[in-house]
Amino acid sequence: MSYRFLTIRREGPVEHLTLNRPDVRNAFNEDVIDDLRAWAERAGNDAWLRVVVLAGAGKVFSAGADAAWMAKMAGYGHDENVQDARAAADMFRAINALPCAVIGRIHGAALGGGSGLAAVCDIVVSSESAIFGFTETKLGILPAMISPFVLPKIGVSAARELFLTGMRFTAEHARSIGLVHAVVPDAELDATVARYVTELLSAAPSAIAAAKRLIPQVWGQRPEDVADITAEAIATQRVSPEGQEGLRAFLEKRSPAWA
Ligand code: COA
Repeated sequence: MSYRFLTIRREGPVEHLTLNRPDVRNAFNEDVIDDLRAWAERAGNDAWLRVVVLAGAGKVFSAGADAAWMAKMAGYGHDENVQDARAAADMFRAINALPCAVIGRIHGAALGGGSGLAAVCDIVVSSESAIFGFTETKLGILPAMISPFVLPKIGVSAARELFLTGMRFTAEHARSIGLVHAVVPDAELDATVARYVTELLSAAPSAIAAAKRLIPQVWGQRPEDVADITAEAIATQRVSPEGQEGLRAFLEKRSPAWA
């Protein structure tokens, strides 16, 4: 499958997915969104895919929504405008729901929807010089479609500060509010991403997928209200082929088959 604004490099179970529209700092319009939706659909059905590294080509990770694409919506009817926005929301949801692990590799800037893309990654590694921001209000719009993914990461308090002001902030601040997991010198970005890839490849693929399903089901719920879900989850996983293989491998002091 070929994409207009994405490049893909596959290394066994790891896919390096790069936003490739560097002339506009990987801003995304309807074509980039279509590419990402099509990619996510394929990736979600790829049983051999275990880790995705999402990066940006050129100077920055992503400058978010393409301002020209947003501006031209004034020429659309309301229903068409809503339909177009839903396509973007579907794209974020599709990446967020992938069963494999997704690592965000952030350099330069992740602004507006670029910070939204970071929020749908499971692990985000940022170079220390990168800047972040939910800058939409500065452009007279708002971070609506990304809010369901950003809020669970940064919480209501940080969202009230950052969504309202649209202020830009450092990678270290992004780490302090939970949007980023590791901030490293620029020269160590790829080595740090590689270390996370190694960690993820030593974990069972089905256990990673099950953990990703579990987290949003349990988050914000009372323990007694999710007792059935959590019991069902471990009861299923520990008798699964990978559950059995992992437990036996530990007891037999050997590496599990997936590693
Ligand atoms: N939408 C459309 N075009 C964008 C864009 C966006 N979100 N972000 C950058 N571009 C374009 C610029 O208009 C410029 O086009 P030109 O070459 O025709 O003038 C080109 O990309 C390069 O941008 P420039 O600002 O010169 O690059 P830079 O490397 O100095 O800075 C950023 C990069 C990302 C820090 C800066 O472009 C920026 O702040 N962009 C806006 C990000 C934003 O607020 N996004 C939220 C959108 S809702």
